[in-house]
Amino acid sequence: MQGIRACVFDAYGTLFDVHSAVGRLRSQLGAVADELSALWRGKQLEYTWLRALMGRHAPFWQVTEDALDYALERLGVASEPVRAPLLQAYLTLDAYPEVGDVLQRLRAAGLKLAILSNGEPAMLDAAVGSAGIGGLLDAVLSVEEVGVYKPDPRVYQLAVDRLAVPAGRISFQSSNAWDVAGASCFGFRTVWINRQGAPAERLPGAPECRLPDLSGLPALLGA
Ligand code: LAC
Repeated sequence: MQGIRACVFDAYGTLFDVHSAVGRLRSQLGAVADELSALWRGKQLEYTWLRALMGRHAPFWQVTEDALDYALERLGVASEPVRAPLLQAYLTLDAYPEVGDVLQRLRAAGLKLAILSNGEPAMLDAAVGSAGIGGLLDAVLSVEEVGVYKPDPRVYQLAVDRLAVPAGRISFQSSNAWDVAGASCFGFRTVWINRQGAPAERLPGAPECRLPDLSGLPALLGA
């Protein structure tokens, strides 16, 4: 990928492992753990899309709580002993192991680096702080500034405005293929970080490049 001046990263699923929250309570949750984690994440995203369509925005923390409450009830898991610890764990999700090195290499090559996420600022601050990557980022951008969720084009425009870099000079990385689709349609150069080996989404906005994780990104960008 030639001519890139800034790298913008999705947060949840791309830099931070959303399943690490449930992972920390795995022994307590038992056999239902993986299903709970998948349902929690799935509902969380579904609620963002539905709220955007309904014009009824609420911050990502509320959506995350609502999705967890739905998932616990649907799977018949008693809320009281696990709800608070799961939400607490969501504030300090594990970063994927390659994240720190990759950001350092890109920054050393002179690229601007930013997060652009559905997360509200307090959630993103907590995750960035716990991963120790704050000093590597030029900006941590939240959809709260525009009050609508991805993949609304106003969200992607935030990065163009705040980084003062044109869309065609920004590479956008997400493990969420639907987010890549939105970003490609907006005009970003896109890299789908296909961590799960998922099939391509049947949506407009194909990714320009695909990687299994972020470790190949510096080479892809000539950094
Ligand atoms: C985010 C969601 C899409 O961080 O994971 O924006």
